[in-house]
Amino acid sequence: MMIRANIKGCGSYLPERIVTNDQLAERVDTSDEWIRQRTGIRHRYVAGENELTSDLATKAAVAALEHAGIDASEIDLIVCATATPDETFPATATVVQKNLGVIRGAAFDIQAVCSGFVYGLSVVDSLMKTGQARTALLIGAETFSRILDWEDRSTCVLFGDGAGAIVLQSEEGKGDTSDSGILNTHIYSDGRHHDALYVDGGPSSTGTAGFLRMEGKEVFRQAVSRMPEAIDMALQTSGLSSADIDWLVPHQANIRIIEAMGKKLKLPKDRVVVTVDKHANTSAASIPLALTEAVYDGRIKRGDLVMMAAMGGGFTWGSALLRW
Ligand code: ACO
Repeated sequence: MMIRANIKGCGSYLPERIVTNDQLAERVDTSDEWIRQRTGIRHRYVAGENELTSDLATKAAVAALEHAGIDASEIDLIVCATATPDETFPATATVVQKNLGVIRGAAFDIQAVCSGFVYGLSVVDSLMKTGQARTALLIGAETFSRILDWEDRSTCVLFGDGAGAIVLQSEEGKGDTSDSGILNTHIYSDGRHHDALYVDGGPSSTGTAGFLRMEGKEVFRQAVSRMPEAIDMALQTSGLSSADIDWLVPHQANIRIIEAMGKKLKLPKDRVVVTVDKHANTSAASIPLALTEAVYDGRIKRGDLVMMAAMGGGFTWGSALLRW
């Protein structure tokens, strides 16, 4: 017997405002054609002026709780993966805790940028396995629009705002790969790559929030090797092969990165969940947003083997293998 972190439900939230590539082309020297060809992005959602990361996170959390049929009073752990918290402190997760009326357990944020949701799965899984949490909310929520240099065409076209959440509950499993829930997670980082993707501000450096800076080509190069490596580790650990994967739900940064990963895994395109065209890169929110879409439209069904992989600033990267 073994404790498994089972996923009981999921939900997501996108701000109302859609910004198209053509609208961006009115601001910076770019075009719908360039953005589509290089990234696959058609449009992105942008939070309203007074809409905070915690607002998006709370709405996604409420949807996930409803989908799971679980009351907020049962929650004893809230983890919010975000690189765009409402404030430097306290953690955005504690704002969500208050919004949901939860008055017990722990709430904290995880900062691993685009890998935040996979990091969060790893942390929640560990806390459940050691008996420190029973019913958890894991949220990925971002307002990257606030840290974009809207004059820089090489970055401002790539990102969007949004949030996704899942509800997990610890349950006894057999301890083999037929169990539902998180089967394994692998997380990594390598701080030597700081300069390839970072924000040029922060409370201890400039006292401002700063803007995202990126060497796109280097990120691309690393992403197409690091994520497949993390996926291989997940398969090796569980004694499974890529043919066993029902769904790849990768971080949504660029369609070319996603297609390269699918190819390496020899997965047919219709088993790879893609939302980057509609959402752009929503950092820690991208995987739970994609997951929720594929669960709600009936693609991902109970018993399916789902592989997740992400990479982000740091660099950080990792994988999570689960049975839905
Ligand atoms: N519109 C028009 N032209 C542009 C734009 C734009 N929005 N942005 C850049 N260009 C120009 C460049 O200036 C360059 O012009 P030059 O040749 O005259 O110098 C030309 O287009 C080609 O630029 P490259 O950077 O070589 O284009 P590339 O094909 O590498 O695509 C991109 C750039 C889309 C950023 C790609 O490298 C990428 O997706 N990298 C991964 C970045 C990423 O996903 N980051 C997310 C965070 S990390 C993660 O989530 C994995």
